[in-house]
Amino acid sequence: MSLKGKKILLGVSGSIAAYKAALIVRLLIKQQAEVKVVMTESAKDFITPLTLSVLSKNPVFSSFFNDSDGTWNNHVELGLWADAIIVAPATAKTLSKCATGNCDDLLTAVYLSARCPVFFAPAMDADMFQHGTTKQNINTLISFGNHFIDPDHGELASGLTGEGRLAEPEKIIHELSLFFSRVPVAARKKVLITAGPTLEAIDPVRYIGNRSSGKMGYAIASAFAAAGASVTLISGPTNLKPADQSIKLHSVQSAKEMFEAASAEFEQHDVVIFAAAVADYTPKYVAEQKIKKQGLGMSLELTRTPDIAGTLGKLKKENQLLIGFALETENELQYAMDKLDRKNFDYIILNSLNDPGAGFAHDTNKITVIDKDKNVSRFNLKSKEDVARDILHIVLAKWMEA
Ligand code: C5P
Repeated sequence: MSLKGKKILLGVSGSIAAYKAALIVRLLIKQQAEVKVVMTESAKDFITPLTLSVLSKNPVFSSFFNDSDGTWNNHVELGLWADAIIVAPATAKTLSKCATGNCDDLLTAVYLSARCPVFFAPAMDADMFQHGTTKQNINTLISFGNHFIDPDHGELASGLTGEGRLAEPEKIIHELSLFFSRVPVAARKKVLITAGPTLEAIDPVRYIGNRSSGKMGYAIASAFAAAGASVTLISGPTNLKPADQSIKLHSVQSAKEMFEAASAEFEQHDVVIFAAAVADYTPKYVAEQKIKKQGLGMSLELTRTPDIAGTLGKLKKENQLLIGFALETENELQYAMDKLDRKNFDYIILNSLNDPGAGFAHDTNKITVIDKDKNVSRFNLKSKEDVARDILHIVLAKWMEA
C-alpha cells in the first residue's frame, strides 16, 4: 500500500535522532505523500528547518507567530489538514506534554487539536525510556488511541547500549503504510493459511521434502494481516518469519502435523487458503535409527498423506471461503478446474511451471484465478507481495458483496 496523496504531518522534537527526520520526509515524498513539518524549538538545534522545508516542498512551522510578517500559524488548521501525524523523534518531554495536554508549543497544540491518527516514534536514552514516568505517559497516550512505533535496541548517543534508538525511517514508513492498508470489513474476519513444504521423515536424519520456499503463503498472510484480518499461519519448515507480529504461527513438519493443526483451526476461520506444498506420500515406516547403506539399491514403501484441503473442503460451511493452489505442467486449466470441484474450493489459483519466474522459490509469480462458476482471470507476472494483494482484493470484493 502506498501513501500516495496522503497528507502527513511530521512532528520533530529535539533529539539527536532528529536528523533522521530528513530521511522520513524523503521516503514520504518518494511515496507521493503531501508532507508538512512542525518542529519544536529544540529540534532546530539538531536539523535546520531549511533542510526539511526543501525536502518536504513546504514551509516548516515551529512557532505560533511569524515575527517577520506578524501572521500566525493556525494549529487547528494544521491538525485538521493531516490524514496522519507522526511525531518522530518523540522525546520524553514531548511525550509527557502530549500525555498531559501541555500545549505550550505549536507541535503539542497541533497534536491536541488533531482528529486524525497519531503515531509516536520515541527516541531517548535507554534509562529515560525505561523510566516509570515515560512508560506511564506512553500508556496514557495509547489509552487515548495513539499508535507507537517502538524504538530499536542498540548504541545510543550517550554511549550506552539499550532500547531507545529511533526506529529506522523505513520501519516508520512501513508501519504508517500498514495502517492505511487496513480495511474495515477485514477487521472482523479470521483467515487460516497453510504455507511452505512438508517434510516426511525417513529416519532421524533424512526426509522427503520439496522446493517450496513458503514465500507465497507468507506474502498472503502479510497482505491479510495488513488489511486488519486476524491471521493464523500453519507453516512447514521455511527460512521465513511472518512480517506482521499479529500473525499466529503454527510451525509443523509433516503433512500429518499440518493436517492436525489445520483441522483444529478450520471451523473458526472465515477464509482458508491452502498455499502449502503438501507431500502426497510419506514413508510407511519411519526408521528409529539412521538407515545404514547396504547393497546397490533400496526402496522405500510410501503411503498417501491426508489430503488436507480435500478433507476440510467436505466440512466447509456456507459462510466459509476456501481457496486452493494448483501447480500444473500440462492441461493446466482443466486439471485446475477438476481440483476446484474435487476439493470444494471457491477459487483455485493456478501457477504454471511453464511461465518463467512463476512458482517455487521465485520472488515473482504469475497466476490465473478460476472461480466456482469457471470464470477465468489471468494476471501478469508480479512480485509475490503484489500477487498476495490481488488475492486479498478478490476476497475483499466477496466480503463486501455479502
Ligand atoms: O497437490 P495438489 O495439486 O492436489 O494441491 C492442490 C491444493 O490442495 C493446494 O492448495 C494444496 O495446498 C492442497 N493440498 C492439501 N493437502 C494435500 C495436498 C494438497 O491441502 N495433501
